[in-house]
Amino acid sequence: MAIIIDGKKCSEEIRNELKQKTEELIKSKGIKPGLALLLVGDNPASALYVKNKAKACEEIGYNSVIVELPEDTSEKTVLNYIEKWNKDESIHGILVQLPLPKQINEQKVILSILPEKDVDGFHPINMGRLVLGLPGFIPCTPAGIQYLLNKYEIPLKGKHVVVVGRSNIVGKPIANLLYQKNSKANAIVTICHTATNDITYYTRQADVLIAAVGVPRLIKSESIKDGATIIDVGINRIKDASTKTGYRLVGDVDYNDVYNKIHAITPVPGGVGPMTIAMLLRNTYLSAVGLDKYE
Ligand code: GUN
Repeated sequence: MAIIIDGKKCSEEIRNELKQKTEELIKSKGIKPGLALLLVGDNPASALYVKNKAKACEEIGYNSVIVELPEDTSEKTVLNYIEKWNKDESIHGILVQLPLPKQINEQKVILSILPEKDVDGFHPINMGRLVLGLPGFIPCTPAGIQYLLNKYEIPLKGKHVVVVGRSNIVGKPIANLLYQKNSKANAIVTICHTATNDITYYTRQADVLIAAVGVPRLIKSESIKDGATIIDVGINRIKDASTKTGYRLVGDVDYNDVYNKIHAITPVPGGVGPMTIAMLLRNTYLSAVGLDKYE
């Protein structure tokens, strides 16, 4: 029987702990963590993510501000909001939901966020600190993946981690986290991407396979090593007439097909997804207290 890595439960534990710490922080220092969320356009998945992030803030006693702007919003308008939040002492974290509409330069927006309020960890300063192994904000999904691997005591030292996908949000940061020389990582890491000729050649060698490609059930059992641990980052909507909404969520890995061959797996939903929000809340807390004062 494969171990099902319960991201939902881990996320709840982290949130409960943060809720308690937040109460203490408000009492002792009068500081209430504050997160500003900006959504541009009407992508339904992005709208849901932002709503869930704001709800999670409220549940643990943070302040959250949501700004929702139309699809044709100018880059200048977005930059003006960020400038305002950069100066606002009650805002400790700024999150601009990606992707942004094409008239807005994503990198320019990310660069405009103060690195010390960049709770997404996407600013080049935070990415650079991650690569160098220095303290900084770690992008939420990769931080959640590393947390789960450590919590479930999945061996990483000297093991082969294969990451499929090289996005700035998941692939690049998780690869860079897991080869770091420390007790929570120390793996050998390979990244596969669209120019990889024979992805299966690599995935079959993976002790830990991290799939972040966005193609429903792409990875089947023949592409996997016996006893591997599978981290499925995909959140893909597929049509399903038997559900109320007419769709359901599946990962990048064919769960039923691989289940009997593996050591452990993150389900979709309930695996990596809930950890992203938990880590966002953790980064926001960190920002409110100061990175160096968090243990
Ligand atoms: N879009 C998909 N994942 C993320 C995330 O973690 N943060 C932001 N800002 N946008 C995203």
